[in-house]
Amino acid sequence: MRIAIAGGTGTLGRHTADELRGRGHEVRVLSRHSPEYRVDLTTGEGLAEALAGCDTVVDASNSPSPKQAEQILVEGSRRLLAAEEASGVGHHVCVSIVGCDRVPMGYHRSKAQQERVVESGQVPWTVVRATQFHELLAAGFAAVGRARVLPIPRARLQPVACAEVARVVADAVEGGPRRGRVEVTGPETADLRVLARRWRAITGRRALVLPLPLPGALGRALRSGVATSDHPDVRGTVRFDDWLRAQTPAGRADVR
Ligand SMILES: NC(=O)c1ccc[n+]([C@@H]2O[C@H](COP(=O)([O-])OP(=O)(O)OC[C@H]3O[C@@H](n4cnc5c(N)ncnc54)[C@H](OP(=O)(O)O)[C@@H]3O)[C@@H](O)[C@H]2O)c1
Repeated sequence: MRIAIAGGTGTLGRHTADELRGRGHEVRVLSRHSPEYRVDLTTGEGLAEALAGCDTVVDASNSPSPKQAEQILVEGSRRLLAAEEASGVGHHVCVSIVGCDRVPMGYHRSKAQQERVVESGQVPWTVVRATQFHELLAAGFAAVGRARVLPIPRARLQPVACAEVARVVADAVEGGPRRGRVEVTGPETADLRVLARRWRAITGRRALVLPLPLPGALGRALRSGVATSDHPDVRGTVRFDDWLRAQTPAGRADVR
């Protein structure tokens, strides 16, 4: 199969490209800085050339800031789908987030809107909803923890290794359009503060974990675990701690 991955240079996109190539597929990597196929979802530039002759498109693009989320994820999906229709692409796989329609944040609203654009479009589709990647949490703790304090709200999360999500995305590609959703989560649900303490212990970084009160609807939603799933279609097997320890043979992860 010939597959184009929008956002193929990103965290998930790279894993997905490796996974699909490993299964013998031809992969085109699309992004603004891709050495192969330069595309810009905010303008549509480069899409027609990049999608010519492709069977399937995986959309693993993301917005570098919440402000651009609507432009890249929602309007970008419209541009991408229009180019797919024109090129005769038969399957669009959209990567989304577990519970995105229940998290009262601008970025998550854009993800839910992106899903609606895909699900009401003409190109046969599959939506793969994942929980937060281990990579995202580790990078977030490292960035915030530079100041030696980690102000963390209470939030029930179920993080998953990106490589395990990539396998589910590749299965979705090979399975063909479902016109439905597939959920993939990590193996355990844990409070974000517990995960932060484990990150600190395993990486050996010094940072004080402080409670960050998150009032209002967002705080209630995160505490109640809206971004988790009790009955996912696929439950990953790699726990956050084990993933972190695997980053270095000594068991201490440099996760900057
Ligand atoms: N991170 C998580 O924990 C998580 C969890 C669940 C679901 N997801 C979803 O998974 C998807 C991928 O997330 P990620 O964390 O892997 O993203 P990421 O690492 O931030 O990668 C984003 C990708 O999008 C590309 N991109 C950004 N702006 C673009 C534009 N205007 N035109 C074309 N390409 C553009 C980037 O490349 P260039 O900069 O070269 O353009 C990059 O390849 C997103 O839909 C996200 O919502 C993420």
